[in-house]
Amino acid sequence: MDYQNTLAFATAIDQKDLLKSFRSKFFIPQHQGKDCIYFTGNSLGLQPKQTAKYVQQELDDWAKLGVEGHFSAKNPWMPYHELFPKQLSKIVGCKENEVVVMNSLTVNLHLLMVSFYRPTRQRYKIICEAKAFPSDQYAFETQAKYHGYTAEDAVVEVSPREGEYTLRTEDILSVIKNHGESAAVVLFSGVNYYTGQLFDMKMITAAAHAAGAYAGFDLAHAAGNVELKLHEWDVDFACWCSYKYLNSSPGGVAGVYIQEKHAANKELPRFAGWWGYNKETRFKMDKGFEAIPTAEGWQLSNAPVLLMAAHKASLDIFEEAGMERIHEKRKQLTGYLHFVLNDINSRRGGKILEIITPANESERGCQVSMLMTKNGKMIFDELIKQGVIADWREPNVIRVAPVPLYNSFEDVWNFGNIIESILK
Ligand SMILES: Cc1ncc(COP(=O)(O)O)c(C=O)c1O
Repeated sequence: MDYQNTLAFATAIDQKDLLKSFRSKFFIPQHQGKDCIYFTGNSLGLQPKQTAKYVQQELDDWAKLGVEGHFSAKNPWMPYHELFPKQLSKIVGCKENEVVVMNSLTVNLHLLMVSFYRPTRQRYKIICEAKAFPSDQYAFETQAKYHGYTAEDAVVEVSPREGEYTLRTEDILSVIKNHGESAAVVLFSGVNYYTGQLFDMKMITAAAHAAGAYAGFDLAHAAGNVELKLHEWDVDFACWCSYKYLNSSPGGVAGVYIQEKHAANKELPRFAGWWGYNKETRFKMDKGFEAIPTAEGWQLSNAPVLLMAAHKASLDIFEEAGMERIHEKRKQLTGYLHFVLNDINSRRGGKILEIITPANESERGCQVSMLMTKNGKMIFDELIKQGVIADWREPNVIRVAPVPLYNSFEDVWNFGNIIESILK
């Protein structure tokens, strides 16, 4: 697209936007009586207006029916989690028997590591990106310790080259190859939370498998954001949260993918609970765990229905919008943000900021991370004062993510315009 940094251009594109009506399905936080420029859907997605109705339905059924709601609610609670695989399989690119909604993200990461990180004397290493999200780092460190290894020995981090911010795929692949004999699992994020870099999950998975290791991904910043083909790429396992791009409430219920060949393997070690037990005989309450031969076999507990109702409210919007249209708009919207920021920066001799998110469309999602070279915190504070909701990461990075379901090209232009006014 031939971008222009003008309001007329932005509003003209908004007019043609096939998803423009979706903005009105969300509550947009207000600033001095006007919509904020909400660019933090990468941290907490906005509340769909229909969420209250979905949650209220379950509250009403609970009030009316009590425990009978498990069977007689409009959406019976006992199989409530079964509402999700059809919609989620389209978002993460997998079969319906490979996905389940349960728990929260870090809990699920640990549960998956219980099944897929089973180190031996020879194969005990976890290969990951340096500066992964702290919760992941702690999970890797404590899983290694739990099995009697030190993190220093067992956790192998791939770092950017000197003077670079993002990882080169070739470097990731060569680290996997070099540690091939001792690698147990390769565990990356799909999109790095700090730089916004989208990793080549297909290549990473192939390299992990060639080395004889499992490949898993934390998709917190990828699910609902970028195109995912977990089954086709032969990813072994993945997990994500639902409160970022999936707009399903703060701390909302999370998702898990397990490749069907593993999911069907009832003998795969796991920490089990009654909700993962064969549905036909679960209520006989017998001894001896018998796993459901799908991703559901990793469930521990019965469905947290109120959180799941919020998740359903958002996934219905994704379904209506369609992933293709979401991805199409995302590429144009974030492309426009790149263009506007580069335009502002280049007119000031490139001295204001450096975009550390890859410029290449296939290596990024919605997010753009700006390393502020001058007066970063002052600019950020001023943005907030002027109704922009963005996010500051120490020491000097502003992260912004325009989201196709509720952000507009006008939002992006306005954002650039406010930065220009701060710089004057
Ligand atoms: C990449 C990544 N992993 C893990 C987490 C932790 O998520 P939770 O607190 O839901 O377990 C986050 C939270 O933002 C994240 O971005």
